Amino acid sequence: VSKGVLQPRPPVITVMGHVDHGKTKLLDTIRKTNVVAGEAGGITQHIGAYQVEYQGRKITFLDTPGHEAFTAMRARGAQVTDIVVLVVAADDGVRPQTLEALAHARAANVPIVVAINKIDREGANPDRVKQQLSEQGLVPDDWGGDTPFIPVSALTGEGIQDLLSILLLVADMRELKADPTRLAEGTIIEAHLDPNQGPTATVLVQNGTLKPRDFVLVGSVTGRIRVMFDDKGQKLRKAEPSTPARIIGLEGVPEAGDKLLVVTDEKLAKQVALQ
Ligand code: GTP
Ligand code: NA
Ligand code: MG
Repeated sequence: VSKGVLQPRPPVITVMGHVDHGKTKLLDTIRKTNVVAGEAGGITQHIGAYQVEYQGRKITFLDTPGHEAFTAMRARGAQVTDIVVLVVAADDGVRPQTLEALAHARAANVPIVVAINKIDREGANPDRVKQQLSEQGLVPDDWGGDTPFIPVSALTGEGIQDLLSILLLVADMRELKADPTRLAEGTIIEAHLDPNQGPTATVLVQNGTLKPRDFVLVGSVTGRIRVMFDDKGQKLRKAEPSTPARIIGLEGVPEAGDKLLVVTDEKLAKQVALQ
């Protein structure tokens, strides 16, 4: 039996937090300022997940539409994230959904990095955020705890580089690895029926390498990948571990959280899918 080839893979980061605390704005700002080299100016296509490059290293971000999706994925056993960024608006402080997000992150048993956002705002009070989260047992590393709290402004870009640096440091401690030589395995992040292209799904490849013409089994759906795109709408010839890819060629629409497996025996796969 081959031992495989474990290689470092990019970290997968999920951004969570209370409504309007700036999750989307933060992701947009990170994306605009750190597009993967050579892709600047590319047409941005929203696929719910994307990669940026910082200090020559890739980081994958998941733009989860809401906690329900995250909860649904976890309930189905899908462990997609390596690190959670908990966004808290500095002027608003900890709110009910901040606590929900914290509970989700803890249940997923992944490291948390707090982004204290909107520090450009009058009334921003980062210390209050630190105090409020400390009361929940999430203690800032500069207060003797082990959670990084990074003050940022998604509006001005202040602190974003610090946040990305910390994410890479936290990722390094986890020694994230996968085997790109295997048949691909991944998790569906989102899926829908495109009026022109048919069933379309965004898959996060977690192990192995996904390629066009691969035959895949996704929950009760099968299909052969006709074409794959990255988050800029560019055609992908392969998707390695931690890469999000939009795939076309499934015979039905899977559900977020469904596992994707590449299979070599198409007939057997169809039998499994029917069960
Ligand atoms: P939901 O997805 O609805 O939960 O909200 P969200 O957390 O994604 O917040 P969003 O990014 O939509 O931001 C909410 C509002 O806050 C928008 O008007 C943003 O422009 C604004 N905003 C986000 N970040 C900042 C910031 O750092 N500073 C200031 N001043 N405004 C911000
Ligand atoms: Na919003
Ligand atoms: Mg949002």
